[in-house]
Amino acid sequence: MKSKLTMLYGAAWVVWTCGVADSYPRPPNVLVFLADDLGIGDLGCYGNSTINTPNIDRLATEGVKLTHHLAAAPFCTPSRAAMLTGRYPARYGLVYKAPVLAPVIVHAASRAALPLDEVTLGSALAAANYTTALIGKWHLGMYCDWMGRSCPGPLKHGFQSFFGIPVTLFQEFRGPHPFWIFKLDEPRFQGLAVTWLVTVLTLLVAWKKRTVRFSVLFSFAVITNFLLFLVWFVFAHISENDDCVWHMSPWMHRFLNSMLLRDDVVVEKPIQLDGLSQRLAQESREFLAAHANDDRPFFLFHSFPHVHTPMFSAPYRAGVSKHGRYGDNVEEMDESLGVVLDALKEYGLEDNTLVYFTSDQGGHLEAIDHDGQRIGGHNGRFKGGKGQGGSEGGIRVPGIFRWPGHLPSGVTIDTPTSLMDLLPTVLSLANLPSLPQLVPSAADKELDGVDISELLIHGKQPEGHRVFLHHCAQYIHAIRLVTELHVYKMHVAKYKWSPGSTQCGWGYNTACLCFGEEFVTDISSEPELYDLVKDPFEEGQPIDPSTQEYIRVVRSLQNYLKQWHHRVRYAPSQLANVAEIMWRPWLQPQFPF
Ligand SMILES: *[C@@H]1O[C@H](CO)[C@@H](O)[C@H](O)[C@H]1NC(C)=O
Ligand SMILES: *[C@@H]1O[C@H](CO)[C@@H](O)[C@H](O)[C@H]1NC(C)=O
Repeated sequence: MKSKLTMLYGAAWVVWTCGVADSYPRPPNVLVFLADDLGIGDLGCYGNSTINTPNIDRLATEGVKLTHHLAAAPFCTPSRAAMLTGRYPARYGLVYKAPVLAPVIVHAASRAALPLDEVTLGSALAAANYTTALIGKWHLGMYCDWMGRSCPGPLKHGFQSFFGIPVTLFQEFRGPHPFWIFKLDEPRFQGLAVTWLVTVLTLLVAWKKRTVRFSVLFSFAVITNFLLFLVWFVFAHISENDDCVWHMSPWMHRFLNSMLLRDDVVVEKPIQLDGLSQRLAQESREFLAAHANDDRPFFLFHSFPHVHTPMFSAPYRAGVSKHGRYGDNVEEMDESLGVVLDALKEYGLEDNTLVYFTSDQGGHLEAIDHDGQRIGGHNGRFKGGKGQGGSEGGIRVPGIFRWPGHLPSGVTIDTPTSLMDLLPTVLSLANLPSLPQLVPSAADKELDGVDISELLIHGKQPEGHRVFLHHCAQYIHAIRLVTELHVYKMHVAKYKWSPGSTQCGWGYNTACLCFGEEFVTDISSEPELYDLVKDPFEEGQPIDPSTQEYIRVVRSLQNYLKQWHHRVRYAPSQLANVAEIMWRPWLQPQFPF
């Protein structure tokens, strides 16, 4: 493995040193592409021979491809927060824990959010005089004010402009959904129907007997019907029942959360899904056109709604791939990335723009559409997927860096790296001041990501050992130790997969949860240990617990964990706090419409 790498480097070095230009007058632009729920096995450049992703593949041949790139969490909100801040999301409570089941921010009108004292890549680059923009999905809290007149969301975290999705796409956004729901086989709807009948009969009798004046009767009828309507509405749309995820019916969910914002105001509701990918790409093109000749560099964060559920595509892209609707979505995302990269080239920005591509977590194995078609990603031979922070398939994602003339091209790096490395690495590659110099309030924020610029440029593995913690919600399920010759992975929790699979059942809102007897077995008293250099897919037997190797490594990692918990205090979980995640009608963007 090592020698192959060295050879590749030799070749790349020649190409690279010939291409070095004189120093640039301004720091490089930064363009970050983030895919949603894309599996590492979904791309041509990561070995998928039947999917068509020419643009991402080209990015990989022109840049550095990371094969051991790790998300800090297996769900959107925490993983994105970690990528933008360089810090584990448990540090600031953007994770869930038992017993509340909201692994991500669910409503635009809730309080849960990336705390304002966290420093993102957006704030850092804005402090370095970059023009910053987010186009696409945010999902880190909207900070709406009274009646949602302003929902600044990303504008509070260093992005000077925003066009996109405040929370995330939910399967429920594919409407229409019934508003009038009467389930007369359920006791509470029966009770409601009986109450209504009794009320109507009473009114009729009272009217017939002329005991009360008509106006009194009429007011009584209006008030009781209104109250009964409210109770019905709660039963049908916002209380716990089979059709309600996170206490909202599909109709309600779409009504409350399917919208596009420009900066801090709603501009479209509900989202017109088909063609959204093309509109976002067009928006990014326009951003590039507008800032191509600026004196200041720019940071554009293009955050794809694809390939999260629901599936959607422009009519001309539907049915094009060999892999059903999911494949169409992957290929449409690739096309959009191509459109933005073409614009970079067209405006002469290619050589002075650092491009990064990744996915927030692994493919969602359980996801199926209403008709039973699979609509989740493919994590190659890695086990598990989205939702499982300790399983490789949940966190091992694509990662590509390209910066012509500054980073080698066509190089593959197998050294473990993290999405959290983005912030320190960008600052270093762009030769900017350190984070606390740019943003003094960041001085007390310990980063979990490291600067991997030397690794990207020279293939030089960082000195010493590196440890990665793999959280699932607030719990650590696995820990990885990278030494010069080994990549050990120690599991302290195990998922209870459905037999013959590495997933937990089927359903677009289904995933293995991070706690609970039904989902996880605690094996911290006898952890399982693998060496991923010898067994990258964890297919063989774990290392024998009686060996010296096991005893040495497990003991040292257990010590590490003990010290970690002693030293690092996690903030209270926001996503396990009903008051933080619940829908607050008075924060609803542009309430009531
Ligand atoms: C390629 O990706 C598709 C879509 O996720 C998947 O169904 C297929 O199994 C993958 N093929 C290979 C060879 O990895
Ligand atoms: C940003 O611009 C200000 C004002 O022009 C300047 O003082 C500051 O040094 C710049 N910061 C960086 C990091 O270039």
